[in-house]
Amino acid sequence: MAAPAEIPRTGVSPDDDQRRHRRAVVTGTLADIVCRWSGNAPLVAVHDATRSGAGLADELAEAVHARGRPCARLPDPAPLIDRDAWRADPDTVTVVIADGPDWATSPPTGRCHLVIYLRTPPGPGIHGHGDSEHTADIVIDFHDPTWPVIRRVAEHLDHATDRVYLTETRAFFAARAATWDHKFGQDLPSYAAAIDQAGIPAGATVVDVGCGTGRAMGALRTAVGPHGAVIGVDLTPHMLTVAGDSTGSSAYLLLADARHLPLADSCADAIFAAGLIQHLPDPAAGLTELARVTRPDGRLIVFHPSGRAALAARHGRTLRDDEPLNRPQLARLLTATGWALTDYDDPPHRFLALATRCESLATGRQPG
Ligand SMILES: C[S@@+](CC[C@H](N)C(=O)[O-])C[C@H]1O[C@@H](n2cnc3c(N)ncnc32)[C@H](O)[C@@H]1O
Repeated sequence: MAAPAEIPRTGVSPDDDQRRHRRAVVTGTLADIVCRWSGNAPLVAVHDATRSGAGLADELAEAVHARGRPCARLPDPAPLIDRDAWRADPDTVTVVIADGPDWATSPPTGRCHLVIYLRTPPGPGIHGHGDSEHTADIVIDFHDPTWPVIRRVAEHLDHATDRVYLTETRAFFAARAATWDHKFGQDLPSYAAAIDQAGIPAGATVVDVGCGTGRAMGALRTAVGPHGAVIGVDLTPHMLTVAGDSTGSSAYLLLADARHLPLADSCADAIFAAGLIQHLPDPAAGLTELARVTRPDGRLIVFHPSGRAALAARHGRTLRDDEPLNRPQLARLLTATGWALTDYDDPPHRFLALATRCESLATGRQPG
């Protein structure tokens, strides 16, 4: 029998085969990463705030075993044995897979070599769970355990990051495309206000990068008027299908990666990026590419319909200084990539940063 299509058609909920396939893609990707581990006896901990990762840890152990690597499985709660016992033979190549927060936070002698964190919905009495993400090597969205999606892979595992980023970003947004507008439709006035404030001139060519379902495109179209052009770019075909239905012929839509745009140098007067920069695996590379396609003095509009603090609270995590949209961090990133930050506004109801494309393109290096 042919393998099920990885992602169902827009608007159709994944069937059981597709859901099983998705879990297998995730465990297979994790197993590949684990099996490439060069040291002996790697200890892999799968953990989450609600202790619901046992099934995924079992499947990961099976996938590692199927790749010919010996594998031991330590359950949660920790068995009443010496927690170091599994390390009896330090020269073994056996992969050890444990689940439950204890293994990640207080590992036996040594450390956990790879921590896999599962993002689950915040439950009663669970606060600040999102902060565990920061110390994890791999973060998986596990809101729907039948449709897990890898959302972050640490840079030191970078042999896997690009392929995983493409597959997993598409899996994440494809499953959300059909209901995106219904869920977030009330945000449209806030998009329109931000676009108005950005002062995009009539007749301009604007590229909405990571346009999703095209929520900003009506307001962008109004801003550029009948002699301007709006181009929407997205990595996820399902998002573009919805965008095509809602924008009709009023916008050009491109299936492309923000990091490698199929657009000429300096062809855009403005770039609109909502909910994109913070999700790019390398924001500096993305901003450099956005600068390449923008003319000198052109505009960059970085937007989100909630402020950073409000969004972090919704995800159960505290704000950190090293996040790319934190003001000093963003200013440095922009300077290093050919932009100059001109406005920064981060109240609870929205995030808006405006920048101008510098005369010459920068090197992509961040000043110290
Ligand atoms: C959080 S959604 C925001 C969508 C839309 N801008 C909005 O505000 O409703 C992020 C979008 O960026 C797209 N995306 C993620 N990485 C991308 C990339 N490297 N290149 C182009 N689009 C990307 C996703 O497919 C998704 O549609």
